[in-house]
Amino acid sequence: PEPQNVVVSKLEKKADADDGKKKVSIFFGTQTGNAESFAKAFVEEAKVRYEKATFKVIDLDAYADDDDEYEEKLKKESLAFFFVATYGSGEPTDNAVRFYEWFTEGDKKGEWLKKLQYGVFGVGDRRYGHFNKVGIVVDGKLEEMGAKRLVPLGLGDEQSIEDDFAAWKELVWPELDRLLRDKDDMSVATPYTAAVLEYRVVYHDKPDPSTEDQTYTNGHSVHDAQHPSRSNVAFKKELHTPQSDRSCTHLEFDISNTGLSYETGDQVGVYCENLSEVVDEAVRLVGLPPDTYFSIHADKEDGTPISGSTLPPPFPPCTLRNALARYADVLSSPRKTALLALAAHASDPSEADRLKFLASPAGKDEYAQWIVASQRSLLEVMEAFPSAKPPLGVFFAAVARRIQPRYYSISSCPKVTPNRIHIACSLVYDKMPASRIHKGLSSTWIKNATPLTESKDCSWAPIFVRTSNFRLPADPKVPIIMIGPGTGLAPFRGFLQERQTLKEAGTELGPSIFFFGCRNRNVDFIYEDELNNFLETGVLSELVVAFSREGAAKEYVQHKMGQKASEIWNLLSEGAYLYVCGDPKCMAKDVHRALHTIVQEQGSLDSSKAELYLKNLQLSGRYLRVSRR
Ligand code: 2AM
Repeated sequence: PEPQNVVVSKLEKKADADDGKKKVSIFFGTQTGNAESFAKAFVEEAKVRYEKATFKVIDLDAYADDDDEYEEKLKKESLAFFFVATYGSGEPTDNAVRFYEWFTEGDKKGEWLKKLQYGVFGVGDRRYGHFNKVGIVVDGKLEEMGAKRLVPLGLGDEQSIEDDFAAWKELVWPELDRLLRDKDDMSVATPYTAAVLEYRVVYHDKPDPSTEDQTYTNGHSVHDAQHPSRSNVAFKKELHTPQSDRSCTHLEFDISNTGLSYETGDQVGVYCENLSEVVDEAVRLVGLPPDTYFSIHADKEDGTPISGSTLPPPFPPCTLRNALARYADVLSSPRKTALLALAAHASDPSEADRLKFLASPAGKDEYAQWIVASQRSLLEVMEAFPSAKPPLGVFFAAVARRIQPRYYSISSCPKVTPNRIHIACSLVYDKMPASRIHKGLSSTWIKNATPLTESKDCSWAPIFVRTSNFRLPADPKVPIIMIGPGTGLAPFRGFLQERQTLKEAGTELGPSIFFFGCRNRNVDFIYEDELNNFLETGVLSELVVAFSREGAAKEYVQHKMGQKASEIWNLLSEGAYLYVCGDPKCMAKDVHRALHTIVQEQGSLDSSKAELYLKNLQLSGRYLRVSRR
């Protein structure tokens, strides 16, 4: 194929020149690229609307080297937008940590940002706790410091984020019209058709093996989402019995010579590849030979950024097959911007119209139904619109999102297996209407991984460790209460392994009780033998199991907790730590309710005092919850 040129809009060229135009800074705090892509989409649209302003997209981490520089630079800003994601249990993303800590610490009230006018769009997920906490905090703090809020805080929710973003932008434009337009251009209508983002693509003759996999070379001093380390799959085992109609995989990564290390209770982020059948289909739909060897670039040939971003190229030179396998999330549902990008490259006008309709305000309900609710994947959508053949630069910039890491609680303890990271992962396999099946990218890869025990040519994945607040009490004599049905068991297996090493070293252990839940003793009672072993050796004092599908009525962990109310209350009164791991939507909420009842009844407290008791437990770090299983 011929090299493609980047489509550089005329406005972009203008924006490059910095001749006394009003400057607008667009900051992003992103973990997986989501908040960043909204920031960029915002800028693309704003550039078209406001030719007389300059827009700059800024990574919060790259903005300043230290606190003083943050202060000094921020004071000079006059118009800024913040696109910030909330992560984990209300934390900022890795690239926003330094900014957030500096920004929120101490008493930064008063007038020192009085020059600044601002807007904040938060990227969050209502299904988890602390919905958009970072956005809320940044928005409030800016006001406290004297900055002027131009628009109400945008609360983007993963389930409806496109619509939330569109609604928020509608509030922004009238304000920017006022600030960035001359009186005489007020009458000019500004119809906006999304500029389709496009990377510059360079085709290379021959694959150069030395440049492939560059991003995963081990030996980095720090490993994070941007610098994962290539790790082999050392061992794999099915945890359910053959009677099960589901699947749960125990998997071990070999982290010797990777530079990775971890602590009990940490999480591992895993970048999984698409299965080869998925890649075959993606190659077919993209319509280029799988061995096409190319690189993509986020800058123009002269080195200036295409979309205002300072980020490095999204992936190193590789074949189309590898790019689709490793970087293109083709199993998630496409965003509206992706539909527009497909529309722009659909040769059949009726397909283009239909794609545009789905992305338009009028097609909102159909998008919600046909795409979101039915979990229609990008591949399925491309199958439905066969004439849409975007060039590679568009496909990787605007159509397919990048594969995001999935986080798992590490189920091992580094004192027992310093060179291995263990995880337990349930297969996601949802039957949808019309005999469609939604397969989870990551869990399917994990289930199908080839371990070193089966082949020298084993599977591997780029992985990194994320620290967590899920830690055993510093004093091993402090009692612990663990609640984790299903794969929520994972971090507690690590905890119990750690307690085993302590016990073997002669340390006295406090009481420990574990509430586990599964469907059926003979089907999905994972790690049963290990748990019994911990009981026998006294590493675990008590194991309470709720079997949800054995009796006539469902029995869940929270029911078992109710039966053990006085014991739980006594342990809490002795200073116990309480840990909950698993589904935040239902289980963790139900468990919280059960705890509330226990505290209320056992402590003879009224409802609000009981809530306050649990709140204090949380604030003092003795009630910890984690949703990553
Ligand atoms: P179920 O599948 O029979 O509904 C691990 O997944 C275990 O958690 C299963 O036994 C599952 O039961 C159970 N479970 C499902 N929803 C739950 C909830 N809201 N609270 C506690 N346990 C739950």
